[in-house]
Amino acid sequence: MIAGIPAETFAGELRVALVPEALPPLIKAGVEVILEPGAGSPAGFPDAAYKDKGATLAASRQDLFAAADLLLQVRTYGANPNAGRADLHLLRGEQFLIGMCDPLTAVEENRELAGMGVTLLALELVPRITRAQSMDVLSAMATLAGYKAVLMAAAELPRIFPLMMTAAGTLTPARVLVIGAGVAGLQAIATARRLGAVVQAYDLRPAVKEQVESLGARFVDLGLESGDSEDAGGYAVAQGEDFYRRQREALGKLVADSDVVIATAAVPGKPAPLLITAEATNNMVPGSVVVDLAAERGGNCEATRPGERFVHNGVVIQGPTNLPATVPYHASQMFAHNLSAFVQHLLKEGQLSVDEEDEITAGTLVARDGKLVHPLVIQLAKDE
Ligand code: NAI
Repeated sequence: MIAGIPAETFAGELRVALVPEALPPLIKAGVEVILEPGAGSPAGFPDAAYKDKGATLAASRQDLFAAADLLLQVRTYGANPNAGRADLHLLRGEQFLIGMCDPLTAVEENRELAGMGVTLLALELVPRITRAQSMDVLSAMATLAGYKAVLMAAAELPRIFPLMMTAAGTLTPARVLVIGAGVAGLQAIATARRLGAVVQAYDLRPAVKEQVESLGARFVDLGLESGDSEDAGGYAVAQGEDFYRRQREALGKLVADSDVVIATAAVPGKPAPLLITAEATNNMVPGSVVVDLAAERGGNCEATRPGERFVHNGVVIQGPTNLPATVPYHASQMFAHNLSAFVQHLLKEGQLSVDEEDEITAGTLVARDGKLVHPLVIQLAKDE
């Protein structure tokens, strides 16, 4: 079985699907790995390092697509609809495609891929269960995004983060508010604390209070009764508009009193809840910073413009949509370990096998035998 690693073509995407150190377990399991020349270079992995670990170089992208039984990408067509279109004519029906494919929004692109007969598995759909932890790309990338969001805010802020008592006076620490204490939020808390900020965090799920406090932050209780806040998988449950309105009101003062707000609130498969009004950001002190990690799903902050940085009333609003690509070396390393674990999960005697009884395989399988097969994606396709 031949696995191909093409170069990524999405604008600004510097990650690569597999790094050299992730190759040996796959090669040992019977996989032959071929690489498009230069595919790892933007992330800091030269071709020679892949060759050292047993990969061979394809002569061209066309040759790689022609030879591979399995294509491993950070962004398959669904997550790279513009540039990814150029690869469609290179695909063959019997090929496997594994990577991110934006399964819950890029329905049309994934339907197109399904129509070509490829077997498409979406890494975004790896269930957050213990057995699949080593394959959980979203958690790995959210960890890096939480870290980088804080660095971004620290670089913008006209203040420093830590308390400093100097001969030139005492500098008070920055006040950071983290909204949503999931994977990205917890890493943002840890990073802001390491830099010396005073951190408070709020989440819909009271269950995270202990984790927030263990990182040295204060857990904010808004005193709102939400009913069910958490599903069986530990994810937040979407709330009614009345509840969100009360949240926005209660968060307004906290936001206004913060130097930095890192917003990460998300409910799987739903647009990001709107939690920070334009009025709340207008009331922040000029020079304050909001980094809205939920930007790609509409944003937690009313003022956010996805993919942009802008300044309103002196407050910087950042809406980054691909922070992991700003740390491509480690992002690729983490992605590759997740992906390698996932491929090994599918391998049976050196060949890929799709066991639809298996929770991880069935949970990630988007397209097979010419059609969309994932129930959630089928539902979204019907709703369109
Ligand atoms: P997660 O599901 O682990 O955490 C989200 C948290 O938000 C949960 O703890 C949940 O309880 C909380 N939440 C949901 N609704 C809430 C509400 N109404 N009020 C308060 N808290 C609420 O998700 P994860 O992995 O931490 O990702 C967070 C966000 O960051 C997602 O939108 C994700 O797409 C985004 N992200 C953005 C990146 C970027 O480069 N911009 C990169 C990686 C992730």
